[in-house]
Amino acid sequence: MCSVNIIIGSQMGSAEYVGEQLAEQLISLGIPTEVHDQPSFNDINQDNTIWLLCTSTYGAGDYPENLLPFIESIKQALDLKGLKFSVIGLGDTSYDTYNLAGRNLEALLLSKGAHCTAQRLELNILDESLPEETALAWLPQWIEINNLKSL
Ligand SMILES: Cc1cc2nc3c(=O)[nH]c(=O)nc-3n(C[C@H](O)[C@H](O)[C@H](O)COP(=O)(O)O)c2cc1C
Repeated sequence: MCSVNIIIGSQMGSAEYVGEQLAEQLISLGIPTEVHDQPSFNDINQDNTIWLLCTSTYGAGDYPENLLPFIESIKQALDLKGLKFSVIGLGDTSYDTYNLAGRNLEALLLSKGAHCTAQRLELNILDESLPEETALAWLPQWIEINNLKSL
């Protein structure tokens, strides 16, 4: 069965909490899932898995600090053909650079030949008192799209 690797970009913990809640739910459905809150590119399996990248945005559309080494490694990777991924972005629409980290990360992975399996989920923190609830409500359709069979 295909596994899920949840890759977290978070500074204050909201994206991390969303990722952890999704992991808990996926595991309870029998879908092997790992969470990477300090992601190291070389340590994350790329075969027979889907990367679910869950990141907030900081600065003027920057990546959260914990994600920076991982992003650098992706930029240096020659070819990520065969890698499947989806993105969840947490942001705040009061910034011109709304959700830019999630959008840029998706574009970066696509530029390396990776395959985006589902439309990006963007969570506007101004509308979401509990972003993890919205993400959990979105999860079943993501499981379906990705054909992740539960046990
Ligand atoms: C200093 C600062 C800068 C931010 N910059 C952006 C931004 O450029 N674009 C955006 O969409 N959200 C921005 N945000 C909002 C965060 O992405 C949002 O609050 C998110 O939920 C934080 O998630 P985290 O707790 O996982 O770090 C910023 C927040 C702070 C505190």
